[in-house]
Amino acid sequence: MSTKLIIFGITGDLSTRKLLPALAQIINTGKFDDMSVIGVSRRDIDIPELLQNSLGANNLESRVQGFTMDMSSSEDYARLKDFVALGDSDQAIIYLSVPPSATSQIIELLGQSGLNSSNVKLLLEKPFGVNLTSAHDMIDHVAKYFEESQVYRIDHYLAKEMSQNIVAFRSGNALFDHIWDNGLIERIEVAAIEKIGIEGRAEFYEQTGALRDIVQGHLMQLLSLTLMDTPDAMEWDDVPALRFDALRDVSSADPNLSLRGQYETYKDEVGNQNSIVETFVSLELRSTNPKWQNVPLILTTGKALNEKSTEVRVFFRKNRDAQTNCLIFKIQPHEGVEIELAIKKPGYDREFETKKLSFEYPEDVSLPDAYEQVIVDATLSRKSLFASSAEVIRAWEILQPVQDAWLESGDNLRRYESGSTPESIVS
Ligand code: BG6
Repeated sequence: MSTKLIIFGITGDLSTRKLLPALAQIINTGKFDDMSVIGVSRRDIDIPELLQNSLGANNLESRVQGFTMDMSSSEDYARLKDFVALGDSDQAIIYLSVPPSATSQIIELLGQSGLNSSNVKLLLEKPFGVNLTSAHDMIDHVAKYFEESQVYRIDHYLAKEMSQNIVAFRSGNALFDHIWDNGLIERIEVAAIEKIGIEGRAEFYEQTGALRDIVQGHLMQLLSLTLMDTPDAMEWDDVPALRFDALRDVSSADPNLSLRGQYETYKDEVGNQNSIVETFVSLELRSTNPKWQNVPLILTTGKALNEKSTEVRVFFRKNRDAQTNCLIFKIQPHEGVEIELAIKKPGYDREFETKKLSFEYPEDVSLPDAYEQVIVDATLSRKSLFASSAEVIRAWEILQPVQDAWLESGDNLRRYESGSTPESIVS
């Protein structure tokens, strides 16, 4: 079966920075020789120049063809369909790497032109709506033309090697699998913090903010991977439904347990002195599942902070005063797993100190980039790394009360200096 990857917006930033380099890696493995790319754009595309600007993508030259079209013209979709000329034993993967405002019309015209047959898959990038209502609208709109089984919603955090390892680690280690509930776990923290600010994406960020940009997708997914039941016999296809079950039990967020901040130079960067858009969020959630009752679930994210780090921290209950342990899934950087242990301090005194038992992937082990992983899994019809419509809706439902409360006023927005630690903002 040959795979035709049709990239709308091939000249865009995501395509040159992520997609084409990821494709180059995939082709280099020699396992996907029957894959070719059709790059769709409004303007003529200079393929050699495009590949030159995409890290390591020179090997793709014989596989990439350009197709210029007006994305609002139904005749052009008919032309595209002829150009793709999909045989019965071929599959097409349509990747929409276009601004969110363009997605809806492209999906409509793809559907009307018949580029939605059962051997066509649709790969969508976030945002999946900007609130609960628009998420419903977007999902319903896509469902007019594509079955859920044809839709692959990318959340690149799900595809990170260590995110997948949360499930693998729990399933593979009896020691942890046995104790994975509120009997022994007292608190879970999921944090994705960044050193960079908004990097010139003023317009995007002013409409988005950290709650939508990171919490709704990335952090909710890491949380559900941590809370969910592990699949029997490592049946990865069951993972999206298990993640959804975990989210279904998470209660709606309480605005009183939510905090937001904005870094000091943000308003100047976006040229809006009245902006109340948050660049930092910390919120506490709870699950009604008996396994997780009374366990605070703390989600934190922010830009312009002291470091780049994404971690899931699982804190175990003290048995006696001196005892406690924390298990850390280090999603990035330095991917690995760590557990903090209390050890006797060497010397004559009977004192404890905290040491780390840790595993990190060695430098010479190359971990697949998340975009490589999503293209490979979509090609092979594997769904575990993609967000289902049910998960997307549930995550918005959980966050809606906070979104609503934050729309009303910016009174509780905390200002922080670039380089601050999350702890200093929360305290
Ligand atoms: C994206 C957000 O989804 O994730 C960006 O839109 C953010 O604002 C990025 O910087 C972080 O991704 P990663 O993989 O670098 O942690």
